[in-house]
Amino acid sequence: MSLTDINFEAIQKETSVSWPGIEHLRAACLGLVIFDLETLSPEEEGLFTTRELEKFLRMGRQRRKSFKAARVALKILSRRLGLIKKEVPDYAIETLGPDNLKPCLAESGLYCSVSHSSRFVVAVAHRHPVGVDIEGVSDRIQRIQHIFLSPGESQMISQSGLDFQVAATLVWSIKEAAAKALGLHLFQAVREVRVVKMGKEESSIRVQEKTYPARHIQGHGQVIALVTIDDL
Ligand SMILES: CC(C)(COP(=O)(O)OP(=O)(O)OC[C@H]1O[C@@H](n2cnc3c(N)ncnc32)[C@H](O)[C@@H]1OP(=O)(O)O)[C@@H](O)C(=O)NCCC(=O)NCCS
Repeated sequence: MSLTDINFEAIQKETSVSWPGIEHLRAACLGLVIFDLETLSPEEEGLFTTRELEKFLRMGRQRRKSFKAARVALKILSRRLGLIKKEVPDYAIETLGPDNLKPCLAESGLYCSVSHSSRFVVAVAHRHPVGVDIEGVSDRIQRIQHIFLSPGESQMISQSGLDFQVAATLVWSIKEAAAKALGLHLFQAVREVRVVKMGKEESSIRVQEKTYPARHIQGHGQVIALVTIDDL
């Protein structure tokens, strides 16, 4: 049994029990893996490719945890999607893109995205460009709202009936997910992506004269946003 198989069992339980609404996100993409960072085994041996290990060894303790969680999530996703033969070991599944920044799912050519908060990691795969973001709901986002909320978005939040802190975190998270899906710099996304409709689980964004859906859920004091750039 490989390291990811062990984590896989814990994750199966975790996702089905603790995240009502996750099926809504799962249905909008090709695959999704989410788990609590605490369910990770402390072992690293046999997990990383050479490039992943080089990057990991240059990181501090906290960052190592999230980087490793992202690798485990992406390797599980690659296996779950049948991209990897069973006999291929975890250390042969590449999850670090050629730029050493963006994630990948082995050599599959599928799109993917990953995000971590202090508690969870979430990874998604899709046939079209995709971005995911998970954020803890806190007053940190509320404090910087003037940087990323347009007047229109502030007004929409006030009229949405949603808790302001949750809704503002949601807008931030949607913009981060959109940045990843569209390959925009985060600052550019903050400026150019506009949340034009806000629903309980589905919103719409407008960017570069196009409209895309943004799906989202809340739970455990977190929000998760998923942006897909499907052929609309
Ligand atoms: C990319 C960025 C938005 C991620 O935000 P974050 O809140 O720090 O972290 P998240 O947990 O949500 O996401 C981190 C993951 O995003 C992925 N990522 C990094 N750069 C990325 C990029 N340019 N495009 C898509 N995904 C990227 C990585 O897989 C990373 O996890 P890992 O390093 O453990 O593999 C952030 O690093 C940032 O602001 N960078 C500035 C440069 C920038 O804006 N780049 C392009 C926008 S995506």
